[in-house]
Amino acid sequence: MGELLEKKYEFTIRNACEMDLDKIIEINMKCLPEHYPRFFWLEHLRKWNKAFFVAEINEEIVGYVMCRVEIGIGHIKPWIRKLGHVISIAVLEKFRRRGIGKALMISAMNALKKEYNVSEVYLEVRISNIPAIRLYEQLGFKKVKIIKSYYLDGEDAYVMAKEL
Ligand SMILES: CC(C)(COP(=O)(O)OP(=O)(O)OC[C@H]1O[C@@H](n2cnc3c(N)ncnc32)[C@H](O)[C@@H]1OP(=O)(O)O)[C@@H](O)C(=O)NCCC(=O)NCCS
Repeated sequence: MGELLEKKYEFTIRNACEMDLDKIIEINMKCLPEHYPRFFWLEHLRKWNKAFFVAEINEEIVGYVMCRVEIGIGHIKPWIRKLGHVISIAVLEKFRRRGIGKALMISAMNALKKEYNVSEVYLEVRISNIPAIRLYEQLGFKKVKIIKSYYLDGEDAYVMAKEL
């Protein structure tokens, strides 16, 4: 019985593919106010597939993380470098607080470093989004900047960054 219960909470992380896109978009619609046209998701899937992951429980997708790779001035080290940008991450509400968000982020950061030779990762997060801020802090991200009225509803964003 104990073993069965444990099994229920097992999840796996794998690279996303185009067949996953409908489910990923559905999770994004349920979990976040920031939505994107399908071509935007597809572009990320095709260009930076190795840093686009889904989490599955019993072969059902329950979360995702999508990243891109940019060249720009670092937030941690202020010179031109390859940056990994976490564009979107979400885990379905009923599967939260089981380590899935953290595992998605770790997979993304490992891939950004190993597959794309990225030296710094950054993201924007609503200043009110405590769960996400705690997750990023737990992973070693620091708040490096505030962007005023970054979101469509006027909320400010923290830029958080971490050396890889
Ligand atoms: C942010 C999000 C992806 C985290 O996913 P998750 O699978 O629940 O995260 P994890 O279980 O891996 O949590 C890892 C750590 O993050 C922190 N954390 C996560 N949720 C938290 C909460 N509700 N309150 C406080 N800290 C929280 C904790 O430090 C946690 O570690 P712990 O459980 O050992 O204390 C999830 O809450 C989500 O999908 N939110 C809606 C979408 C969103 O806001 N995305 C981020 C946009 S920038």
